[in-house]
Amino acid sequence: MSRTLAIIKPDAVSSGKAGKILAHLEEAGFTVKAGKMTRLTDAQAGRFYEVHRERPFYDSLVSFMTSGPCFPLVLEADGAVLALRETIGATYPAEAAPGTVRALFAENKERNAIHASDSDENAAREISFFFSDSELIQISG
Ligand code: CMP
Repeated sequence: MSRTLAIIKPDAVSSGKAGKILAHLEEAGFTVKAGKMTRLTDAQAGRFYEVHRERPFYDSLVSFMTSGPCFPLVLEADGAVLALRETIGATYPAEAAPGTVRALFAENKERNAIHASDSDENAAREISFFFSDSELIQISG
Protein backbone atom coordinates (compact mmCIF):
# COMPACT_ATOMS: atom_id res chain seq x y z
CA MET A 1 0.00 0.00 0.00
CA SER A 2 1.16 3.56 -0.67
CA ARG A 3 -0.26 7.02 -0.24
CA THR A 4 -0.92 10.06 -2.37
CA LEU A 5 -2.43 13.51 -1.96
CA ALA A 6 -5.61 14.65 -3.67
CA ILE A 7 -7.14 18.11 -3.38
CA ILE A 8 -10.80 18.57 -4.20
CA LYS A 9 -10.44 22.07 -5.65
CA PRO A 10 -12.54 25.18 -4.88
CA ASP A 11 -14.70 24.83 -8.03
CA ALA A 12 -15.89 21.39 -6.93
CA VAL A 13 -16.31 22.33 -3.25
CA SER A 14 -18.29 25.50 -4.02
CA SER A 15 -20.61 23.71 -6.44
CA GLY A 16 -21.38 20.98 -3.89
CA LYS A 17 -19.56 18.15 -5.66
CA ALA A 18 -17.08 17.24 -2.90
CA GLY A 19 -19.21 14.40 -1.52
CA LYS A 20 -19.79 12.86 -4.95
CA ILE A 21 -16.07 13.04 -5.73
CA LEU A 22 -15.19 11.46 -2.38
CA ALA A 23 -17.66 8.63 -3.06
CA HIS A 24 -16.18 8.17 -6.54
CA LEU A 25 -12.67 7.87 -5.06
CA GLU A 26 -13.82 5.32 -2.46
CA GLU A 27 -15.65 3.30 -5.12
CA ALA A 28 -12.43 3.34 -7.17
CA GLY A 29 -10.72 1.54 -4.28
CA PHE A 30 -8.98 4.30 -2.33
CA THR A 31 -9.07 4.41 1.47
CA VAL A 32 -9.39 7.93 2.87
CA LYS A 33 -6.72 8.19 5.59
CA ALA A 34 -7.06 11.93 6.30
CA GLY A 35 -8.97 14.94 5.03
CA LYS A 36 -9.78 18.51 6.01
CA MET A 37 -11.63 21.51 4.68
CA THR A 38 -9.23 24.45 4.43
CA ARG A 39 -8.78 27.71 2.58
CA LEU A 40 -5.34 28.46 1.17
CA THR A 41 -3.74 31.86 1.61
CA ASP A 42 -2.01 33.53 -1.36
CA ALA A 43 1.37 32.61 0.13
CA GLN A 44 0.39 28.95 0.63
CA ALA A 45 -1.04 28.55 -2.88
CA GLY A 46 1.99 30.32 -4.35
CA ARG A 47 4.30 27.93 -2.53
CA PHE A 48 2.27 24.83 -3.44
CA TYR A 49 2.36 25.74 -7.15
CA GLU A 50 5.93 27.10 -7.08
CA VAL A 51 6.86 24.73 -9.94
CA HIS A 52 4.40 26.61 -12.21
CA ARG A 53 5.62 30.12 -11.26
CA GLU A 54 6.86 30.93 -14.77
CA ARG A 55 3.70 29.67 -16.49
CA PRO A 56 1.26 32.22 -17.93
CA PHE A 57 -1.60 30.73 -15.89
CA TYR A 58 0.23 30.96 -12.52
CA ASP A 59 -1.44 34.13 -11.15
CA SER A 60 -4.86 32.94 -12.25
CA LEU A 61 -4.23 29.51 -10.73
CA VAL A 62 -3.25 31.02 -7.36
CA SER A 63 -6.29 33.29 -7.45
CA PHE A 64 -8.57 30.32 -8.23
CA MET A 65 -7.06 28.08 -5.54
CA THR A 66 -7.56 30.80 -2.90
CA SER A 67 -11.09 31.70 -4.08
CA GLY A 68 -12.77 29.39 -1.57
CA PRO A 69 -12.29 26.27 0.53
CA CYS A 70 -10.58 23.20 -0.85
CA PHE A 71 -10.48 19.68 0.57
CA PRO A 72 -7.07 17.97 0.69
CA LEU A 73 -7.14 14.20 1.22
CA VAL A 74 -4.56 11.54 1.98
CA LEU A 75 -5.55 8.47 -0.04
CA GLU A 76 -4.18 4.95 0.26
CA ALA A 77 -4.15 2.19 -2.36
CA ASP A 78 -1.78 -0.17 -4.14
CA GLY A 79 0.37 2.11 -6.32
CA ALA A 80 -1.66 5.09 -5.10
CA VAL A 81 0.04 7.83 -7.17
CA LEU A 82 -0.50 6.16 -10.54
CA ALA A 83 -3.90 4.75 -9.59
CA LEU A 84 -5.18 8.20 -8.61
CA ARG A 85 -3.90 9.86 -11.76
CA GLU A 86 -5.74 7.25 -13.80
CA THR A 87 -8.89 7.74 -11.74
CA ILE A 88 -8.95 11.54 -12.13
CA GLY A 89 -8.09 11.66 -15.87
CA ALA A 90 -6.22 14.21 -17.97
CA THR A 91 -5.64 17.81 -16.77
CA TYR A 92 -7.93 19.21 -19.44
CA PRO A 93 -11.45 17.81 -18.99
CA ALA A 94 -12.00 17.70 -22.75
CA GLU A 95 -9.14 15.17 -22.91
CA ALA A 96 -10.13 13.20 -19.80
CA ALA A 97 -11.28 9.62 -20.41
CA PRO A 98 -14.99 8.92 -19.88
CA GLY A 99 -15.84 8.05 -16.29
CA THR A 100 -12.82 9.82 -14.78
CA VAL A 101 -13.32 12.46 -12.08
CA ARG A 102 -12.41 15.30 -14.41
CA ALA A 103 -14.62 14.03 -17.23
CA LEU A 104 -17.50 13.87 -14.76
CA PHE A 105 -16.93 16.96 -12.61
CA ALA A 106 -14.38 19.43 -14.07
CA GLU A 107 -15.48 22.74 -15.61
CA ASN A 108 -12.41 23.67 -17.69
CA LYS A 109 -8.62 23.38 -17.78
CA GLU A 110 -8.14 25.58 -14.71
CA ARG A 111 -11.29 24.73 -12.75
CA ASN A 112 -10.61 21.01 -13.12
CA ALA A 113 -12.11 19.72 -9.85
CA ILE A 114 -9.17 17.80 -8.40
CA HIS A 115 -5.40 17.71 -7.96
CA ALA A 116 -3.30 14.56 -7.63
CA SER A 117 0.41 14.18 -6.78
CA ASP A 118 2.52 13.18 -9.79
CA SER A 119 5.22 11.08 -8.03
CA ASP A 120 5.82 9.31 -4.71
CA GLU A 121 8.34 12.02 -3.81
CA ASN A 122 5.87 14.83 -4.48
CA ALA A 123 3.13 12.90 -2.68
CA ALA A 124 5.23 12.85 0.49
CA ARG A 125 6.01 16.56 0.13
CA GLU A 126 2.40 17.52 -0.61
CA ILE A 127 0.98 15.39 2.23
CA SER A 128 3.35 17.19 4.64
CA PHE A 129 2.26 20.52 3.15
CA PHE A 130 -1.31 20.03 4.36
CA PHE A 131 -1.04 17.65 7.32
CA SER A 132 1.06 18.15 10.45
CA ASP A 133 3.38 15.52 11.91
CA SER A 134 0.93 14.85 14.74
CA GLU A 135 -1.97 14.37 12.28
CA LEU A 136 0.18 11.97 10.26
CA ILE A 137 1.29 10.02 13.33
CA GLN A 138 -2.37 9.36 14.10
CA ILE A 139 -2.82 7.63 10.72
CA SER A 140 0.54 5.85 10.61
CA GLY A 141 0.64 2.06 10.43
P1 CMP B 1 -3.12 20.38 -11.77
O1 CMP B 1 -2.56 19.55 -12.87
O2 CMP B 1 -3.71 19.76 -10.58
O3 CMP B 1 -1.98 21.40 -11.29
C1 CMP B 1 -1.66 22.52 -12.09
C2 CMP B 1 -2.92 23.26 -12.36
O4 CMP B 1 -2.79 24.41 -13.16
C3 CMP B 1 -3.86 22.37 -13.19
O5 CMP B 1 -4.28 21.30 -12.41
C4 CMP B 1 -4.92 23.38 -13.56
O6 CMP B 1 -5.79 23.69 -12.47
C5 CMP B 1 -4.03 24.59 -13.84
N1 CMP B 1 -3.72 24.69 -15.27
C6 CMP B 1 -2.94 23.87 -16.00
N2 CMP B 1 -2.87 24.30 -17.28
C7 CMP B 1 -3.62 25.41 -17.34
C8 CMP B 1 -3.93 26.34 -18.39
N3 CMP B 1 -3.43 26.18 -19.62
N4 CMP B 1 -4.72 27.37 -18.08
C9 CMP B 1 -5.20 27.53 -16.84
N5 CMP B 1 -4.93 26.70 -15.80
C10 CMP B 1 -4.16 25.66 -16.06
